[in-house]
Amino acid sequence: MTGPIMPTTTTSAPQVSAIRPKVLFQKVETTFPDANIMFSVSIPSSAIGGMTLLESSILVSLAKLTGAQTFFEFGTYMGATSVLLASNAPPGAHVTTLDLPPAEIDLTAASGDTAALILQNDTENDNFLRRQFAEKGAFYIDRAPADVQSAITRLHLDSRKLNPQAQQLSGQFDFIFIDGGHDYETVAIDTANALAMAKPDSVILWHDYRSKIHGDVTRFVDDFSGDRAVIHIENTMLAFILNGNFKHLLAR
Ligand SMILES: C[S@@+](CC[C@H](N)C(=O)[O-])C[C@H]1O[C@@H](n2cnc3c(N)ncnc32)[C@H](O)[C@@H]1O
Repeated sequence: MTGPIMPTTTTSAPQVSAIRPKVLFQKVETTFPDANIMFSVSIPSSAIGGMTLLESSILVSLAKLTGAQTFFEFGTYMGATSVLLASNAPPGAHVTTLDLPPAEIDLTAASGDTAALILQNDTENDNFLRRQFAEKGAFYIDRAPADVQSAITRLHLDSRKLNPQAQQLSGQFDFIFIDGGHDYETVAIDTANALAMAKPDSVILWHDYRSKIHGDVTRFVDDFSGDRAVIHIENTMLAFILNGNFKHLLAR
């Protein structure tokens, strides 16, 4: 762990700029003018905590635009996004996805399972997601074809204990998706580690930005945006930064 980023700009206005999804889709069209850019995706899960179809298409668009080969995901959950990324990446690409050690998840941590409570309270929601992971595992990965499974490595570790340098993860990844614990401290630690783990030219994304449940993600990303140009995609809960030469990726 490199230590959480404690943004220095909590008093300044957020600098997050918003773009419409079609800005990315237009970039895909101009980058690949002679090809139909297809992607493979499962029907969205009805369970809490999954990605929308629009969000899935944006993750794949960014992966294709950056030519990403090495992916890291904080928060595996059912494994649907691990499978999405692995299924749509070029041959030789690899996805590493991290979630808690199932045996260490406190199955009694959530007081109730009512949808209303889980959908209103960020802590209850996170407890529910952790418990779901402990009980069901990443079954999308378990059910994926062998070639997709072999392109995915599952790590089981509390992300707050991750040490990129000791675990030889520094500077390794083209594409990092932060979607683990949603409290401010965990998002800050995961972001600090993501910055250490990212290659110079890379993209780092957060899920649950402007979520109605996980206000801490929005607070963290808004604070972080005082230091770095953060882009939010309208009609989604995705926000991202582009590093190195990718800063010019969306320039017209
Ligand atoms: C919203 S779900 C992830 C969804 C997944 N990225 C997807 O797109 O399908 C959040 C996951 O983060 C995991 N998680 C929560 N706190 C964590 C921590 N401290 N370290 C690692 N994983 C954590 C939970 O167990 C849960 O499976």
